[in-house]
Amino acid sequence: MTDSRQQNPLTAGLSETLLPQPCTLIIFGASGDLTRRKLLPAVYNQMLDGILPANFAVLGSSRSVMDDQAFREFAHEGIERYSRQAIDNHHWPDYEHRLFYEPGSLDDPQCYERIKQRLSEIEHEFGIPGNRIFYLAIPPSLIEVTVEQLRTAGLIMPINEPGPFSRVIVEKPIGHDLVSAKKINETLARSFNEEQTFRIDHYLGKETVQNILVMRFGNAIFEPLWNKKYIDHVQITVAEEEGVGTRAGYYDRAGALRDMIQNHLLQLLSLIAMEPPWSMDADVIRDHRMDVLNCLRPVATDNIDQHVIRAQYGPGTSHGAGVPGYRREQDVDPESITETYVAIRAFIDNWRWSGVPFYIRTGKRLPKRSSEIAIHFKAVPPILFNADTNNPLEPNVLALSIQPDEGLSLRIATKLPGPKVRIYPVKMDFRYGSTFGNPSPEAYERLLLDVMAGDATLFMRRDAVEASWAWIENILNAWKSSGARWLPEYPAGSWGPLEADRLVESSNHSWRKL
Ligand code: BG6
Repeated sequence: MTDSRQQNPLTAGLSETLLPQPCTLIIFGASGDLTRRKLLPAVYNQMLDGILPANFAVLGSSRSVMDDQAFREFAHEGIERYSRQAIDNHHWPDYEHRLFYEPGSLDDPQCYERIKQRLSEIEHEFGIPGNRIFYLAIPPSLIEVTVEQLRTAGLIMPINEPGPFSRVIVEKPIGHDLVSAKKINETLARSFNEEQTFRIDHYLGKETVQNILVMRFGNAIFEPLWNKKYIDHVQITVAEEEGVGTRAGYYDRAGALRDMIQNHLLQLLSLIAMEPPWSMDADVIRDHRMDVLNCLRPVATDNIDQHVIRAQYGPGTSHGAGVPGYRREQDVDPESITETYVAIRAFIDNWRWSGVPFYIRTGKRLPKRSSEIAIHFKAVPPILFNADTNNPLEPNVLALSIQPDEGLSLRIATKLPGPKVRIYPVKMDFRYGSTFGNPSPEAYERLLLDVMAGDATLFMRRDAVEASWAWIENILNAWKSSGARWLPEYPAGSWGPLEADRLVESSNHSWRKL
């Protein structure tokens, strides 16, 4: 290492190739919410943490008419509201003068000519060796035109040629179904090879999600139990308290299955269920995650309601105040049958997991924001302390809490103090916040750094995106052919529909209380 990051405890010890490289981040869709809430704050935090290379700049572009100064104010406002670390007046000028903006329309070749000109000025000013990261924070329908225009304007370095790198980051949704996802992937592949393509699933950047691998493969005590012999079932929950908010334009066409299950929940599932990888190489890890998707049993569509529950929130409460039902939300079709809640009983047909149910559920307008993966172990034999069939012992549960309170806890049976043997389940608890103090970096911070370093481990590979679409498309088709005109409703602020309780109860399970 040759730069100041050598002394930084966050980066010391990393070889040059694993460090974020000097580059310009070019954001398309730069006046949008993602840029304001996540991307600009993420880059700012990386700079405060001293992880960014000295030669670094951001060039934003979108249709909104702004100059550099207005973009800097837009960044300031976003960082003030959403950043993990507060604005520091000492560092702000250094950050601010690296932010640039070029207005324009994505289908206008002139816009790309201007971007080209600005890039050469920026690269010259900051000594950036031509490395470029294109962040497409734009709707999927605009990906094709943007990538084609970038290529025509000569902004992308040719594939497989030595010299400066060009990388592309694409946001979900990657398509609306398998056909459109394939089309986007093909468009990307015409200009970027797979190593240059970073498909973001921000759940993979969350600290606790990354900890899944360390917990499983950095400790001796879990992996021997991590199979059908000792694990009874697994529950993966991503609960959101918020409703659809202002995103109905997108969400009402997508629904919870496409919006959450196709990406975030299936990625969590594949991390929890994957076989031990033999190296930390990005493709080795991604191959192993992919194997899980390949083994996911297609949901039987003749009696889909026995395996997949969908529902929509009705009127109810949130934060103690009354809130409207989904169909009454702004921009939602009043007859919409878009699901805001999904629960699935899934099976992974491989040697390790054969017969173990994986329950996955997600919903909006649930009582609180809470995401966790809970591993429910099998009960001990019905002898000794578990002999009383009227009073069975509660089996062990290992719960990985992803948010908001990141950590993990293990439920174990212990003896209550006193002369009699009375058993009580206690929780051994580890919380990131109390153990490590500072709040964990945001997912986007980690993911952007990985792109700058060229590490694709935490990104979705093309085959995984397509396999996930194929799996959920089966469900979507069954829903479509059912011709349903309404969905079961759950009151906003409740834990979902009764049907979801019945889904797990039919296998003698119950949802964990979060
Ligand atoms: C996004 C979905 O991918 O994830 C949103 O489009 C959802 O609908 C969000 O609200 C949840 O992310 P997080 O990090 O807040 O759990």
